[in-house]
Amino acid sequence: MEGHKEPLRVRVAGSHTNYSLSEMDDFHLTRALEKPRQLKTERKRSFDERSMSELSNGYVRQDSFLDMAHSPGSRSILDTPLSVRNSFEPHPIIAEAWEALRRSMVFFRGQPVGTIAAYDHASEEVLNYDQVFVRDFVPSALAFLMNGEPDIVKNFLLKTLQLQGWEKRVDRFKLGEGVMPASFKVLHDPVRKTDTIIADFGESAIGRVAPVDSGFWWIILLRAYTKSTGDLTLSESPECQKGMRLILSLCLSEGFDTFPTLLCADGCSMVDRRMGVYGYPIEIQALFFMSLRCALSMLKPDEEGREFIERIVKRLHALSFHMRNYFWLDFQQLNDIYRYKTEEYSHTAVNKFNVMPDSIPEWVFDFMPLRGGYFVGNVSPARMDFRWFSLGNCVSILSSLATPDQSMAIMDLLEHRWEELVGEMPLKICYPCIEGHEWRIVTGCDPKNTRWSYHNGGSWPVLLWTLTAACIKTGRPQIARRAIDLIESRIHRDCWPEYYDGKQGRYVGKQARKYQTWSIAGYLVAKMMLEDPSHIGMISLEEDKQMKPVIKRSASWTC
Ligand code: GLC
Repeated sequence: MEGHKEPLRVRVAGSHTNYSLSEMDDFHLTRALEKPRQLKTERKRSFDERSMSELSNGYVRQDSFLDMAHSPGSRSILDTPLSVRNSFEPHPIIAEAWEALRRSMVFFRGQPVGTIAAYDHASEEVLNYDQVFVRDFVPSALAFLMNGEPDIVKNFLLKTLQLQGWEKRVDRFKLGEGVMPASFKVLHDPVRKTDTIIADFGESAIGRVAPVDSGFWWIILLRAYTKSTGDLTLSESPECQKGMRLILSLCLSEGFDTFPTLLCADGCSMVDRRMGVYGYPIEIQALFFMSLRCALSMLKPDEEGREFIERIVKRLHALSFHMRNYFWLDFQQLNDIYRYKTEEYSHTAVNKFNVMPDSIPEWVFDFMPLRGGYFVGNVSPARMDFRWFSLGNCVSILSSLATPDQSMAIMDLLEHRWEELVGEMPLKICYPCIEGHEWRIVTGCDPKNTRWSYHNGGSWPVLLWTLTAACIKTGRPQIARRAIDLIESRIHRDCWPEYYDGKQGRYVGKQARKYQTWSIAGYLVAKMMLEDPSHIGMISLEEDKQMKPVIKRSASWTC
């Protein structure tokens, strides 16, 4: 694709070609100064106007747009109109959403440190929805950053960093040093007037699941904060550098693996219950990839950091190759798998993971359009999970794990399969659901994950922000607009539920919490990004051209 930003420079230890975030931004600033006129006129025109003509070229014009908006000195935040008072006609529910988001804020010794998962007084069972979840706070954090309120994000990053330093145990088992909590809670003692914190690293969570995604989101958020504020002191502080290194040592450690992807148990991310995503789930692989790239842009190449930088660079190369080749599915690839021979031995094997064509589910043949594709849910020996997962695919676009062609194909598929994937409420967490015998075996008869409910094909409003960001990055904001219209038509009336049920996402979820914070924040973030697309620079990374391009398997394999 033409018009791409300069590749992210790979930093060679000890050399002078290291680019810190600040240097990278200086570089962007130089480019911005070359075209100040263009920027001004671009920013004055409405996004709708741009979307039709220029953004239809996808990556082309947008890069310069993003570069400029996030250069230090260009004050992206200050330039950004607050969503409530911008030139667009604000939707009446925006003010209510902000109010609800602020109501969910959690304070520790007078300082805001996060937002609780749900502010649902009507719900009888609070469980842990009154806690600050790391993954749930991400859209809240982005909303605050986009609104020029970075303090709560900084406090959150520092507070969770402190929690990482705790000694963590599940029964008699000591957890890895780098593990970040799934959630934490502030306890206020009104008599003693003291605040204390309790944290959950999986030892209290239902099913004792490991929050593998927390550390990745933490790194991604640290970059978002740095990118949005231009404040390098936080990410460059010895504490944050150490925090990053500890997370990285967990996921870059050597083991028995034959793949560069990260092996995980079920329930290790947003889908935090048994749902058959154990192995190499796409959501974790995409977040892993994205956080490695974010860490690479923030790690100092000092004595301790240098080794990690080298390991990251190697892993990124292997990971992108593996994902782009083996997780990618489109019409051609599906046809190839359908015709696979099995039991092949040696390096010449075409069917490397010995996938049995009989294991391809019926639905995927009808589902797959001629144009379009996606990263499948999981790939491991003799097992391909063909389910489509939205978060992993959107994060693949944002992190540029997907090549530009693959990103476009993911959006093509979404448009083509709108009824199935979006229906009446954006966005399905995965497609399709599992039912009957398969549901019994895969979920262990989980009554919360019945067909088309919750994690099993339910529709989650929070996913709107990742969808919107992916739409903007691929130059297709009109898709996001359609999704936002759907949400605006009813989410407020339904009191901002956590998820919707049903094949079309028509029903408020069986056990869905109301006033779920990330549903509220996700909506606000989506709105703010559409109004000022430069915001996506915080959570988007351009393609690194040094990564090996995807091998066109169908071409080379058929000969
Ligand atoms: C549920 C979701 C999880 C979320 C948590 C708090 O457990 O599965 O993704 O983080 O609720 O909202």
